[in-house]
Amino acid sequence: MKAVAIQTFGSPEGLTVTDLPDPVPADGQVLIATEVIGVGGVDAVIRRGTLSGHGFAEGHVPGSEVAGTVTAVGPGVDPSWTGRRVWAFTGLGGGYAEQALASVEEVLPLPADLSGADAVTLGSSGVVAHFALAHAHFTAGESVLVRGAAGSIGIMTVQLAARGGAGAVAVTTSSARRGDRLRALGATHVLDRAGDGDATAPDSYDVVIDIVAGADMPSFIDRLAPNGRMVAVGVVGGHPPADFGARLLAAFRRSVSFATFSADTVHPSARQAVRAEQFAAAGRGDLRSVVHEVLPLEQAPLAHRKMDDGEVFGRIVLTP
Ligand SMILES: NC(=O)c1ccc[n+]([C@@H]2O[C@H](COP(=O)([O-])OP(=O)(O)OC[C@H]3O[C@@H](n4cnc5c(N)ncnc54)[C@H](OP(=O)(O)O)[C@@H]3O)[C@@H](O)[C@H]2O)c1
Repeated sequence: MKAVAIQTFGSPEGLTVTDLPDPVPADGQVLIATEVIGVGGVDAVIRRGTLSGHGFAEGHVPGSEVAGTVTAVGPGVDPSWTGRRVWAFTGLGGGYAEQALASVEEVLPLPADLSGADAVTLGSSGVVAHFALAHAHFTAGESVLVRGAAGSIGIMTVQLAARGGAGAVAVTTSSARRGDRLRALGATHVLDRAGDGDATAPDSYDVVIDIVAGADMPSFIDRLAPNGRMVAVGVVGGHPPADFGARLLAAFRRSVSFATFSADTVHPSARQAVRAEQFAAAGRGDLRSVVHEVLPLEQAPLAHRKMDDGEVFGRIVLTP
């Protein structure tokens, strides 16, 4: 089968089209003929080599979510899955391919009123946004700041915070145009990447959901209100500086908290329940997925180039 692998860590051009043997589903797995493949921010983080100390090696096939049709099931899996159109989480790789494997626990039937492209745009990001807000103990009336709001996780976080009755939903983004698009999704204040640029924005926030990390991360600790909570869910801007912990302790008298959040710590059945609700909400038009562009699988390097150049709002999807 045709797949795209990371031949060399670093630039998008390190992604190359390759031929791989057809995968065979193991115990508890299904095999999916892919129809659309989501291009996630995490794929770019892995491709750059940022996570090379975490078990990712060159030759890795990126891609963590796909939509398509189940063509075979492994031992122990109900054969009635065969022939069904599904959304699937493939783990931290294996998605950029004509065929992908997924654990049956991570597979959800696609509702008739939801396109595969919409499903791979909100399938993981909506769940991360939901549980990250829960991890931050967000409640109605609180002010929320979303750092890195223009990606698929940020877009879902903005919508869920607004739907959850946030008193304010501020976002960081890199242009006024992107800010306008975020306002249309529920943002009330648009800030630049440093967190400035709107004099009417709150001085401090009850909740900061941080998808960026990077060098500016400590300055956002300073924007937490007393008892405020920052939850780090992504590292698209790289790792924070070494003095991050010292900055957190310096805010001791405001009783602020910092936490990391990974959806890996949520039981698959809880993720599936939230995802099914979100798919239904998206089908009704109550939640919006933002598909930036649809490109052929072979153009994965172009998709990553566009991500690196900051062109993407929402998510690019690939078709095999
Ligand atoms: N916690 C979990 O369970 C979980 C699950 C999946 C993925 N992730 C993580 O989530 C991240 C990907 O999320 P995503 O796909 O929503 O993100 P994304 O689309 O890659 O990036 C989000 C936004 O961040 C801004 N940005 C990019 N580089 C930046 C920089 N250097 N400084 C400041 N802002 C920057 C960009 O918006 P502007 O140009 O408008 O500023 C971009 O649109 C990855 O780090 C991945 O590991 C976490």
